[in-house]
Amino acid sequence: MLDEAEAATYCGSEGQVLLRKAPEGIARNGKKYYIHTFGCQMNMADSERMAGVLESAGYECSGEAGEADVLIFNTCSIREKAEQKVYSALGKQAKRKRDRVGDLKIVVAGCVAQQEGQTLLRRVPELDIVMGPQFANRITDLLEQANDAQVCATEQVAVEEDITTPRRESNITAWVNVIYGCNEKCTYCVVPYTRGAEQSRKPEDIRREMAALGEAGYKEVTLLGQNIDADLPGTAADASGRRAWTFTDLLRYVHDVPGIERIRFATSHPRYFTDRLVRACAELPKLCEFFHIPFQSGDNDILREMKRGYSHERYRAIIDNIRRYMPDASISGDAIVGFPGETEEQYLATERLVREVGFDRVNTAAYSPRPNTPAAEWDNQVADLIKQDRLNRLNAVVMEVATERSQRFAGRTLEVLVEGPNPRNPRQACGRIRHNKLVYFDGDGAALRGQLVAVEVGECNAFSLFGRMVDRLPSRAAAPGTVLVGV
Ligand code: SAH
Ligand code: SF4
Ligand code: F3S
Repeated sequence: MLDEAEAATYCGSEGQVLLRKAPEGIARNGKKYYIHTFGCQMNMADSERMAGVLESAGYECSGEAGEADVLIFNTCSIREKAEQKVYSALGKQAKRKRDRVGDLKIVVAGCVAQQEGQTLLRRVPELDIVMGPQFANRITDLLEQANDAQVCATEQVAVEEDITTPRRESNITAWVNVIYGCNEKCTYCVVPYTRGAEQSRKPEDIRREMAALGEAGYKEVTLLGQNIDADLPGTAADASGRRAWTFTDLLRYVHDVPGIERIRFATSHPRYFTDRLVRACAELPKLCEFFHIPFQSGDNDILREMKRGYSHERYRAIIDNIRRYMPDASISGDAIVGFPGETEEQYLATERLVREVGFDRVNTAAYSPRPNTPAAEWDNQVADLIKQDRLNRLNAVVMEVATERSQRFAGRTLEVLVEGPNPRNPRQACGRIRHNKLVYFDGDGAALRGQLVAVEVGECNAFSLFGRMVDRLPSRAAAPGTVLVGV
C-alpha cells in the first residue's frame, strides 16, 4: 500500500530499473541492455539473473532506455493495473523502434509475457521476444533466435540451474531462489498460470550460492518461493527418497554459511507454517524475526471461496505460536478486499483480524479479476466503488495499527544493517533492523554500507524509524530478540 513498505516485497507501482555498474574484466560486445522490472521479488531475482547472463555475454547495463540495444520489460500481471503499466511503457518504446535506425531488440519477459504469449506479439508487432519467467537464464539464446524471427518462449520447461552468477543490484543483500512456481490454485490468482508448477532447486545448489555470496561480502539473504515454507518438491531428504526436504531442513542446512549474518524468507503460506518451522526460526540466530504471511481475508467463507485452505482461527493460532517463541516478532501480510460476494460484514472481519493480530505491515489490494482464474467468471462481483471504499478504510486501519505497533521500538538500541545513504538525504544513512523496518540516522551511509551498527531509536513511524548511531557491532549476527539495550 505504501511506497517504502511496498519496496520490501514488491517493486512499487512504477517498477524498478536495474542500474548496476559494469563489472570489471569481461570482454564487451559494445551493446547495452536496460531492464525495467515490475512486480514481486521473484521478478527482481529473475531480472538480476537475466542481467548476469547478458553481462557474461559482453552486454553492459544502461539505466537509460534511450541508450539500450536490448530493452527488457520484466512484467507483472497480478492485478489489471500492473498489467496496464506494461502496455503504456511498451507503447513509447515501440514508437522508438519504428523511428530508430539500427538494431533494437524489445523483450517482454515475466508474468504478462507468459499469460499473453502470441497475443502480445500480435498486439505489439514491434516486439522481438515474449518470454515467460522460466526462460530467464536463456535470454541470450533467445536474442540469438530473434535475429531471424519473433520469438515466443512460453512453454513449460524445467528452470535451468544458474550457470552464470546473477548481477545483483545490491552487494549487501541478495535474493536466493528456492522454489519456482506455485502448486496452489487460489481462485483469484494468476501466478500458477504464469509461473507454472513448483520446481525446487537442489539444497546443495542453494547452499553453494549462499556460500559464494558470503565469500563476496554479502550479509543478508532472502530465500524466495511463492510458498517458501512448503516442502521442496523433487528433493530427497533420506536414502529411501520418499521424504522431501522440508523448509526447516533447508534452514538448518544453510544456516551456518560463513559471512551471511541474516536470513529472511518470503512468502509464507499459512498452510505450511508448522510449529517445527517456528521453533527453528526462534532457535537459529541468523533467522530474522520478521514473517511475511499473507492472510487475504478475515472471513472463513471468503477464505473457503478463495480456496486458501485455512480459517482465520488457524491463522491467529500461527501468529500466537510465533509470538510465544518470539514475542517481539514483526508480522506482515497481504489482504484482498472486494473479493466476489464479499459483504460489508465479511469485509469488517478483515479489519478485525488486522487489529487483533497487530500487523507491522499489510499489502492491501482491491480484488482484480484476472484471466484464466475461476473467480473472474463469477457473477457476484463487487462494484468498483465499494472495493475502493473498503480499500481506503482498510489502509487507514493498517496505518493506525502499524503506527501503534511501531512504538515498541522507541528508546531501544537495535542492530541495523546499513544499506547506504538515505536516497532523499545524503547526510543520513539508511538500513534495516532484523524486523525489516527501515531506519534512518545521521551518518556516512557510503562508508558504513554493509556494516552492522547499533542505533538508538527515537521517532517511530508506521513503516520507518529514526535514530542515532551509538556503536559499530562485530560482524556476527545478534542472538534472536535483537534487543541490545533498553528492554
Ligand atoms: N504466494 C503468495 C502471494 C503471491 S501474489 C501467497 O500465497 O500469499 C501477492 C499478493 O497479491 C497476494 O498475496 C494477494 O494478496 C494479491 N493478489 C493476488 N491476486 C490478486 C487479485 N486477483 N486481485 C487482487 N490482489 C491479488
Ligand atoms: Fe497465488 Fe495462491 Fe499461489 Fe500465492 S499461493 S501465488 S496467492 S495461487
Ligand atoms: Fe510476481 Fe506479479 Fe508474477 S507478483 S509472480 S511478477 S504476477
